[in-house]
Amino acid sequence: MNAIEIIERKRDGRALSAAEIGFFVTGYMTGEIPDYQAAAWLMAIYLQGMDPDEILALTLAMANSGETMAPDDAAATRVDKHSSGGIGDKTTLVVLPLVAACGVPVAKMSGRGLSTFGGTIDKLESIPGLRTDLSRTAFETQLRDHGIVLSGQSIDLAPADGRFYALRDVTATVPSKALIASSIMSKKIAAGAQGIVLDVKYGSGAFMPDRDSARELAEIMVEIGRGAGRRVTALLSDTNQPLGLTVGNALEVREAIETLQGDGPRDLTEHSLAVAGHMLRLAGRTEADDLSDARPRLEDSLSSGAALAVLRKLVELQGGDAGMIDDPEKLPRAPVVQMVPSPAAGYVRRIDALEVGRACLALGAGRMRKGEPIDHAVGVVLARQVGDRVERDEPLFTVHARDRADASAAVEQIGNAFEWSEDSVRPAPPEVLLG
Ligand code: URA
Repeated sequence: MNAIEIIERKRDGRALSAAEIGFFVTGYMTGEIPDYQAAAWLMAIYLQGMDPDEILALTLAMANSGETMAPDDAAATRVDKHSSGGIGDKTTLVVLPLVAACGVPVAKMSGRGLSTFGGTIDKLESIPGLRTDLSRTAFETQLRDHGIVLSGQSIDLAPADGRFYALRDVTATVPSKALIASSIMSKKIAAGAQGIVLDVKYGSGAFMPDRDSARELAEIMVEIGRGAGRRVTALLSDTNQPLGLTVGNALEVREAIETLQGDGPRDLTEHSLAVAGHMLRLAGRTEADDLSDARPRLEDSLSSGAALAVLRKLVELQGGDAGMIDDPEKLPRAPVVQMVPSPAAGYVRRIDALEVGRACLALGAGRMRKGEPIDHAVGVVLARQVGDRVERDEPLFTVHARDRADASAAVEQIGNAFEWSEDSVRPAPPEVLLG
C-alpha cells in the first residue's frame, strides 16, 4: 500500500477500503505523507465523492487520531448538540441550561467564530472573568459535580481533522459533503457523545445554501452516527434571516438570558425548545417520540427560572461575573447606539442574514483571521423579522458601534439587507427532522 496508489484509486472514482483510508490518515499525521499528496487526495475526494462506508472509515480514522473521551458512567447518557453555523445562532446558550435543568448532564466543547459566523466561546467571553480554557480534569470534574460545562477544546479532539481542515481551507476543498460530514462527526465521536442532535442550517446566513443540500449533509451525518453506534437526530432549519433579533456577542448573550426568562423572540425560543426536546429524547428522558411530554417540562424550566439559574451557576463555576445574568445591562455596551427608523411601510419580505453578518463583522464583532481580537459590545438588534408589518418611521433596527463612522457604514449595509412586500409574507418553512 502506498499514498500514490491510494490517490490514483480515488482519482479514478474507485472506493477505498478502511485500511487504505486509515493508512493515509496515519501517514499524514506522522509526516510520512506530505502536504502535496494529502492535497491531491482531498481534491480527488472532492471531485469523486465517497460512499457511506468510506465516509465512516474516514470519520473513525480522524476521531481516533488523538485523545478521546471515554464513555464512562456519566457520559453514557451524555448528549451533545452541533450547529453547522448560522448568523445570530446563540442556541447553545439557551439549550444547555434548559437540558441540564431537566436533569440531563451536558458537557460541550465549542469553538470561536471565524468570518461572518460567530462562535459560542466568543459570546460567553462577553462576560468578564469567565474561563473557557478548562483543563481536561476541570472539565470532567465540573461535569461530574454540577452537570453542566461549556468550554473551548479542552482536549485535542480529532487532530487529523484540524490538519486536514487547514489544508482544505487553502486548496478549495472545503465544500465537499463527505469531508464536511466526516470533519464534524469525527469531533463529536471523539468527544464521547452517545446522543447527538445536529442542527443543520441552510440559507444565506448558513454554510449550506439550500434545504436540499442541508438534507443531503444531514443524511450523511446521521448515517455516520449510526455506523459508529451513536444515536443521531438532525434538524434542518432556515437561516435566511438571522436567528432571533440580535447579532453580536454581548447582545446575543443578553438575548439568550431574555429567552431563558421566557421573554425571547419566538423563533429562537421555539428552535431552542425543539433542540432541547430532542436532546432529552436521545438521553432517554422522554416517553413519547413526538416530544409531547418533553415540551411541558422544558417550558416549566423556563417559567420557573430553573434554566436561568443553571446558566447563572455555569457562569459562576467558570469564574465569570454572575451578576451580569441577573442584570444584563451590565454586559459590555458600545459607545454609539443608533436606532434606524423604517424607510417604508409594509411587510418585511427578507432580511439577508449574510449582509447583516458582514456588517457586524465590519463593526468588529467577528474576526477574519484566527486569533484576531474582537469587540464584544458591537452588533445589531433587529426590531422586526420576516413576516412582520412595519409602518414608516417605526424602529427597524439599532446598530451598536465603536464610533459614528462605523455606525453609518453598518446602517447602510443592514438597511440594504431588508426587502419589503405590500402583501403579507409567509414565515420560513418549519424544521424538518431526520433520524
Ligand atoms: N465545520 C467543521 O467542523 N468542519 C467542516 O468541514 C465544516 C464546518
